[in-house]
Amino acid sequence: MDEFDFLRHEKLTDRLSVVRESFGPCLTFNIYVVIGDHNVAVVDSGLGATGGLRRYIETYITRKAPMVCYMTHVHLDHFGGAILFDEAYLNHREYHRVPWDLNVERRFSDLAKFCGGNQEILDFCREHYLQNENVKYKDVVDGDVVDLGGVTLQAIELPGHSAGSVAYYNREENYALVGDAIQYFGSFIRCRDFAEALRCLNRFIAMMPEDIVLYNGHEPVHRTLAMANDLRTAFEDLLAGRTEGDEPFPAQFAYLPPEDKFMKRMSHKVGSVMVPYDANVLEQRAKESRA
Ligand SMILES: [Fe+2]
Ligand SMILES: [Fe+2]
Repeated sequence: MDEFDFLRHEKLTDRLSVVRESFGPCLTFNIYVVIGDHNVAVVDSGLGATGGLRRYIETYITRKAPMVCYMTHVHLDHFGGAILFDEAYLNHREYHRVPWDLNVERRFSDLAKFCGGNQEILDFCREHYLQNENVKYKDVVDGDVVDLGGVTLQAIELPGHSAGSVAYYNREENYALVGDAIQYFGSFIRCRDFAEALRCLNRFIAMMPEDIVLYNGHEPVHRTLAMANDLRTAFEDLLAGRTEGDEPFPAQFAYLPPEDKFMKRMSHKVGSVMVPYDANVLEQRAKESRA
C-alpha cells in the first residue's frame, strides 16, 4: 500500500485541477489546485489520513512555486492536510472547531466509515496520518482577493453548512469552489442563524453570472446555479416553517460533537438538494418570533 493509492487527479482547465482523495466507494474528498504565475493555491486539503497530498500534487504540476492552502471550512475531511503547505488560511469563525476535528479517535472513527472498515487501510493510516496540532491558521474573510499571479480568487462567505464556510470565486475563468456549502447535502445542521445563511446565499447567487460553474467538496461533477437556487428554496422553506412531510435524518458517525446529542435531526428535500437541519433550532426560532 502506498500514500498515492488514495489519490487521483483530473485537469479541469489550464490552471485548475482537482485531486480526488478516496478511501472507499462511499465518499470522495475534492481538493482543488489553482496554478498561478507565482503561487499555487490548494483549496481544501482532504482528511490528512496520510501525508502524501503535497508530494502527489508536485508529481503533476510543473510550476515550482509556494503552495498555500485555503480552507472552505474546518470539517475534518477538508483541512486534514493543511500542515503540508507553506501557509494555511481559514475563516476565524471556524477556529473553535479545530480541536474537535483534530481528535485522533474521531478521525479514525470517521475513516473506518469512509473505508468500509478495511483493516489494511486503517492500519496503514495509523502509521501515516498527519499530526496537525501546530498549524498556524491565517484568517480569510469575505472580500479578500487572493492574487496568485495571472489568476485571482475572491473569498465569499457562505455560512450555513458551517458558521465560517467560504467559497472562492474565479471571475476570469467563471467558476467558484464552494466546499460543502452548495451540494446535495446542503447541510445547515449546526447552523444557528438561518436568516444569515439565506442572506449570504442570496448575495452569492446575485454575484454569480448565470453560467457559473460550481465545484464542490465531494461530488464527481460540477454543478450550476440551479443547485444554489434549490438550496435557497430549501432555506426559505425552513425559515418559513414549511417542513410538513420532512423525514428524520440519522446521525452518520459514532463520534459527534457533544452538542449534537441534543439535536432533533430532520431533513428537507428540494430538487437537487437535501438539507439536514436541527428541528429544535427551528422550533426555538418560531417561539422567539411569536414572543
Ligand atoms: Fe463539511
Ligand atoms: Fe465535507
